[in-house]
Amino acid sequence: MRLEGKSALITGSARGIGRAFAEAYVREGATVAIGDINLEAAEKTASEIGGKAYAVKLDVTDLASIEAAVKAVETRAGGLDILVNNAALFDLAPIVEISKASYDRLFSVNVAGMLFMLQAAARSMIAAGRGGKIINMASQAGRRGEALVAVYCASKAAVISLTQSAGLDLIKHRINVNAIAPGVVDGEHWDHVDALFARYENRPKGEKKRLVGEAVPYGRMGTAQDLTGMAVFLASDDAEYIVAQTYNVDGGQWMS
Ligand SMILES: NC(=O)c1ccc[n+]([C@@H]2O[C@H](COP(=O)([O-])OP(=O)(O)OC[C@H]3O[C@@H](n4cnc5c(N)ncnc54)[C@H](O)[C@@H]3O)[C@@H](O)[C@H]2O)c1
Repeated sequence: MRLEGKSALITGSARGIGRAFAEAYVREGATVAIGDINLEAAEKTASEIGGKAYAVKLDVTDLASIEAAVKAVETRAGGLDILVNNAALFDLAPIVEISKASYDRLFSVNVAGMLFMLQAAARSMIAAGRGGKIINMASQAGRRGEALVAVYCASKAAVISLTQSAGLDLIKHRINVNAIAPGVVDGEHWDHVDALFARYENRPKGEKKRLVGEAVPYGRMGTAQDLTGMAVFLASDDAEYIVAQTYNVDGGQWMS
């Protein structure tokens, strides 16, 4: 088991990719806090995973909530070794229709939420003096713009940039900061994305999903399970010499 004795906090892990990471981390021996704004869903997920998973109420847009979640993890698990910044929101609109409210919502979760969660975790790890691993969820959307996806793409480009800066700053404390850039991952998130594309591109429901899956060199959309190997690796001692990187796990969609 590669994460035996480690304490992890995964934001937005009541469902989707974060949930799959929580399951994988528990299988690898970690104690895992399911941090989510939806506490009821987080509690259900934690009880379904069982073992060393537990729920923590967390809104990454609220500094007090971030502090309280880190304290809860320290109290419950004796410290914080691994943070996965996974919570994020998606929206879609042509440039001339983007609203300030949508921009603020996405940037407050995807960028500010990610940064200040990372900051609180880093403070806890530095105080404990035993290093740590921080993994940020970027996206292929952060590698280049998309006509209808300007705000989400920009938020994920910011995640890649913050991963580089935080990685360089925190490695002196033996905290490795890296990121994962998935491509298109099937699940509730993409059901929402598909519905938005159906509206803006005037398509039948499900068509965008089918097309993006066919466009992946591997031949299909990704699943949350496709990402767990990288998530476990980056959280493990095997990733000790990896600093400030963003890894594409996307079936061959992006090369960098
Ligand atoms: N699904 C994909 O195709 C895909 C592709 C590339 C990158 N990603 C990234 O992977 C990550 C996970 O994606 P997913 O598809 O599992 O998303 P999802 O929408 O299924 O899950 C997001 C979770 O975050 C929680 N959340 C929302 N706002 C929050 C807040 N303020 N504080 C705490 N929790 C909050 C939600 O309750 C939900 O449980 C995201 O960062 C996403 O941008 C996903």
